[in-house]
Amino acid sequence: MGVYVLDHPLIQHKLTYIRRKKTGTKAFRELVEEVSALMAYEITREMPLEEITIETPVATMESKILSGKKLGLVPILRAGLGMVDGILRLIPAAKVGHIGLYRDPETLEPVQYYAKMPSDIEERELIVIDPMLATGGSAAEALIRLKEMGARNLKLMCLVAAPEGIERVQHEHPDVDLYVAAIDERLNEHGYITPGLGDAGDRLFGTR
Ligand code: PRP
Ligand code: URA
Repeated sequence: MGVYVLDHPLIQHKLTYIRRKKTGTKAFRELVEEVSALMAYEITREMPLEEITIETPVATMESKILSGKKLGLVPILRAGLGMVDGILRLIPAAKVGHIGLYRDPETLEPVQYYAKMPSDIEERELIVIDPMLATGGSAAEALIRLKEMGARNLKLMCLVAAPEGIERVQHEHPDVDLYVAAIDERLNEHGYITPGLGDAGDRLFGTR
């Protein structure tokens, strides 16, 4: 498993505003969408291309289009939803599966409550998206479920990761590359990433 920190200046700049306590719901949501699109732009840099023949208004030419596996996005509900629209703006043909997991506040273990995937997930390159990788329990569980459903080609994309979460996902899913905008110091006693950005779902949806 590779761990890649996407350090493009625009990603880092916007992440700073996402982290700030005084950033309100509307700006938080917009910034998460923007950073997600920028991260997807970086992640798709190596996508294979093929040449096709086209007619421009002036001449015939060989020009490039995307080839290879089709993409799928899998947001982990709820906070992963905040990353979907930004990515779809770049890759509108991607299909979107959903997996619903919440972290039990006492045990911090993930509890699944929903899953609905495109019928052809085994043929797709899937990007699992969630703003936060804290203990890694939710992401590791989502990856297990997706593999059980037939997924073979998986990437994980998170805004902020704790070393503890990276270690867990690396250990349990050595075949899955991880892309993050930042690796923070550690988890605090409540299992929150510190310094982090707080509760991503609540900040996205204004529920606290
Ligand atoms: C948050 C976050 C991740 C999970 C990360 O979701 O969006 O899914 O916690 O923590 P972990 O790495 O320790 O599993 P949460 O459980 O708060 O649910 P929500 O998205 O519905 O708010
Ligand atoms: N979930 C969040 O939303 N934030 C954290 O810091 C940890 C888990």
